[in-house]
Formats: sequence, C-alpha cells, structure tokens
Amino acid sequence: MPLLEPSQRLTNKMELEVLVRARYPIIYLVSWEEERVMREIERIASKREKKIYVWTISQGLVRHRSGVGSAIEGKKGTKDPILLLKEIQSFEDPALFVLKDYHPYMKDSTVIRGLRDLAVFLRQTSTSVILLSPTLNLPPDLEKDITIVDFPLPDRVELEQLYLSIANDLKGHSNFQVDTAPEAINDLLEAAIGLTLNEAENVFAKALVMTGRLTREEVPFIYSEKRQIIRKTGILEYIDAKENMSAVGGLVSLKRWLSKRRLAFAPQARSFGLPVPKGVLFVGVQGCGKSLCAKSVSNFWSLPLLRLDMGKLFSSFVGSSEQNVRRAISIAESVSPVIMWIDEIDKGFAGIHSSSFSDSGTTARVFGTLVTWMQEKEASVFVIATANNVESLPPEILRKGRFDEIFFVDLPNAEERSEIFSIHLKSRNRDIAHFDLPKLSAASEGYSGAEIEQAVISALYDAYENKTDIATESIVEAIRDTFPLSKTMKEDIDQRRKWADGRARSAS
Ligand SMILES: Nc1ncnc2c1ncn2[C@@H]1O[C@H](COP(=O)(O)OP(=O)(O)OP(=O)(O)O)[C@@H](O)[C@H]1O
Ligand SMILES: [Mg+2]
Repeated sequence: MPLLEPSQRLTNKMELEVLVRARYPIIYLVSWEEERVMREIERIASKREKKIYVWTISQGLVRHRSGVGSAIEGKKGTKDPILLLKEIQSFEDPALFVLKDYHPYMKDSTVIRGLRDLAVFLRQTSTSVILLSPTLNLPPDLEKDITIVDFPLPDRVELEQLYLSIANDLKGHSNFQVDTAPEAINDLLEAAIGLTLNEAENVFAKALVMTGRLTREEVPFIYSEKRQIIRKTGILEYIDAKENMSAVGGLVSLKRWLSKRRLAFAPQARSFGLPVPKGVLFVGVQGCGKSLCAKSVSNFWSLPLLRLDMGKLFSSFVGSSEQNVRRAISIAESVSPVIMWIDEIDKGFAGIHSSSFSDSGTTARVFGTLVTWMQEKEASVFVIATANNVESLPPEILRKGRFDEIFFVDLPNAEERSEIFSIHLKSRNRDIAHFDLPKLSAASEGYSGAEIEQAVISALYDAYENKTDIATESIVEAIRDTFPLSKTMKEDIDQRRKWADGRARSAS
C-alpha cells in the first residue's frame, strides 16, 4: 500500500477557491478560525455566484447571507446528520454547504455511505460541501472522496488590517497609544506572525492592557507571548540556541556545506537562481555533535529555530497527531524563513510500517504528511533532522528530494579530537597552551565528543576537590577511567558505517 493517498496530500498551495472552481465535491477544511474561514467562503461564493448554506447540529441547515444584521436567515432544514446528506441533493442552485463540526458523525457507517453517495452525486453539479472543523478526523474509508485543506494562518496583510482597525478603534482614547508609523507596524507584525487572527488580537489587547501602548517597545512582549502560544500547541517550540559553529569541533565538510548555504535565504539568492535549501539530515554515532550542530546553525545563519518534538507528536491522542503536524507546518511556514529542527526523527517513525495494526494508520499518515511537505514545500523552512538509528527510518524519508544532503557524523579523528579538547578547555577558561593536545587526542581514540567533554568535566571535579587545577595527566586519567560507547557498541557503529557508505556524505 502506498504511504500517501492523494487526498492526504497537503493542499496548502491549492487554495479553497481552486478546489471549489475545480468542483471538488467534498472538502474537509481544518481551521480554528471559523470567522475568518466564513469570510473567505463568502468571498468565493459571491465571486462564483453560489448560495451558502450552513449546517450545525443546533440550527440545522440554514441559508447564510453575508452582511451585517442578517447573517443567518431562511427556512430551517434538517438537524439530522444523515437526512442532511439527502437534503443537500435536493437543492438545485449552485451552492456551498458548510457543515460545521460534522466530524463526530463520520464514525457512523450510514454517514460514511451517505457521504460517498453524496460525493458521486455532487460531481455532476456546481455544488461543494465544506466540512469545517478545528480537528482532523477522517475515517480511512472516506480518504478517496474527501480532500483535506489546511486554511493558512493570516498573512501580513490580514494582520495589518487587524492592527489598523485596533488603532482606529482607539483613536482619541488618551489612555492608549497605538503607533502607526510603518516601521513600528512592521516590527509588531513580524512579532505576531504565526498566530491566528484571534490570538493576535488577544496578544495586542494584552499588551494594551498591561502597558497602555502598542509600540516598538512592545515587540519583545509580543514575541514572548507568541512563543508561549506556540509552545501550547504541544509539539513546536522556539529554541534560543546559544551554540555557535565555533563550539563544534571538526566536521569541516559539514560546516563548509552549511557555510555555502548561509545566504541562500535572502531574496537576492532567488533572483540569482538559487533554489531554497530544503533541509539536511545528520545521522551517525551518539554524542558526536549532531544536535550541537543543528542548534548552531540557527546562530550561524541568523535564523530562528523551531524544534518539532517527535515524541510529543506521537504521544498525543491518536488522530490529533495529524492535526498537530499540520498546525506545526502552518506555523513554521508563516514564520519563515526559519529552521525546523526535528531531533531524533528515527524515534518517532520507528515501526511505521506496522502502524496500520497498532494505531489505525495514524503514524503512517502523520509521516506521509511530513514527508510530502518536506518534498513539496516552497516556503523557506529549512529542516534539520537528526537520527541515530538510520535502519529504523522508513526508506521514503531518505529518497532524493526530501533532504538536500545526508551527512554521516562519525567518531572524531585525531585532529578533530584535539580541536574538541581545545573547545571544551577554552570554554572553561583554560589556556590550551598549558595542555598537550596531541597526547590528549591520542589517549582518547574511539571517544566521542560528548565523552571527551565528560572527561574534561570529570578531571575538573577531581582537581576542584584536591584544590589543584586540571592538567594533561589528570585528563588522561579521566579518559582511562571511562569505557567509550564505541567499545560497548562496536557492532552497532560498524553497521551504521556500512549503511552510510555510499548513502551519506562524510561530515568530516
Ligand atoms: N564535534 C564536537 N565538538 C564539540 N563538542 C562536541 C562535539 N560532539 C559532541 N560534543 C559535546 O557533546 C555534547 C553532546 O553532543 P550532541 O548532543 O550534539 O550529540 P549527538 O550527536 O546529538 O548525540 P545523540 O545521537 O546521542 O543525540 C555536545 O553538547 C558537546 O558539548
Ligand atoms: Mg542528539
């Protein structure tokens, strides 16, 4: 079975209007922003001369008219979710039927059958049904008949309209100051982008309540509110990476590759003809700097870093994982250019091929969504994924087009070890001239960067207790006291090297 059914593809680019024009019979629109969506539906309906009917379990089927005062009017139709599907077929004029929160009924086999029949019927007409709901819950039986669309988060223009309407409302209120200078608006909107319209409105309101102002001074506040809101999604988090490339020892080939792409997100790079870099995968031995590198890229490229937590993505309720990954993607796209760091991607996707038995295919669908997005995304979201156990990764993820490059990060060689020693000694304010680096390097053959750092720390503890300072000898002793992973896990490492041969580029 292919991992991706066409209907599961992210259709960000294919906007709602395109689907309506192309007469898609049933569209599943995932959004938390009912009002915003309704405005867009009104726009499409009036442009394409279609009537709008809205169904809710409480009101039944009702004619919807845009404009103030008469938002809802007309003869009330059925509330019954099954009869509804028949009733829709009795309308003759081209229309858009918006079914709000219909998903709970889609578990019923009669409803599933009814929707499939409806899809066939509507294909002959200019009418579409839009299932509007904040949660994505599509039974597998309907995947071929229903197209999922994610409603994108508000763009700058929409946020600006909101901002200006707030400014307008507060005009003449001497207690409030709303800066409408273009530079101030620009910075405030930059800080707010990635939020829904409601969230942005709440954050602006909160700033006004707390400081009485919306000016450039409030930009840090808006950012910190945005961070919190994004963290509440559960799987994405802004990381303040302090790490710099200078903290990474060795891995010259990897650094050179990253360095070449440093300026590739600037608009000038596009007009020059460079493609937007998509992403990179670091695989390899534990403790050799994969996560460290991922974090350092953020400072190196001066781009914000968002971490996608794979563990949380899959530990949340089955089913909601799907909408989580979509939300994460739409946030990342709206705050782009940005780096999305997916640490230990192997942990989330291990056992994906048996997922249809254990969680009715949720893992496979989440995976499909992510992989397709990685392939097709046009926004400047650079994905950095790290993995230990490449063999548990589904081959789809390694296929060309998903990552620009796959790097294998091996145990450091002699030269790299001495660089790693000097980094960790310097970061603890020691003068490396007092240490015999070649000797340290020789003593630590087969040790990872993390183990080298641990040896330095352990020697520091000893020295502190003995009221002396660390020296080459005491570090060598600390090294001898530990048993590196490369010995206990020799077979694993050999296997990974074998895998990497021909598949991945050496990071060193
Ligand atoms: N090449 C290196 N240069 C400097 N320090 C290193 C290097 N490799 C590892 N370290 C030190 O070891 C720590 C752990 O490394 P890191 O978390 O990047 O390993 P990893 O490859 O992601 O391992 P894992 O596969 O276990 O996640 C780093 O924070 C750093 O202090
Ligand atoms: Mg790591």
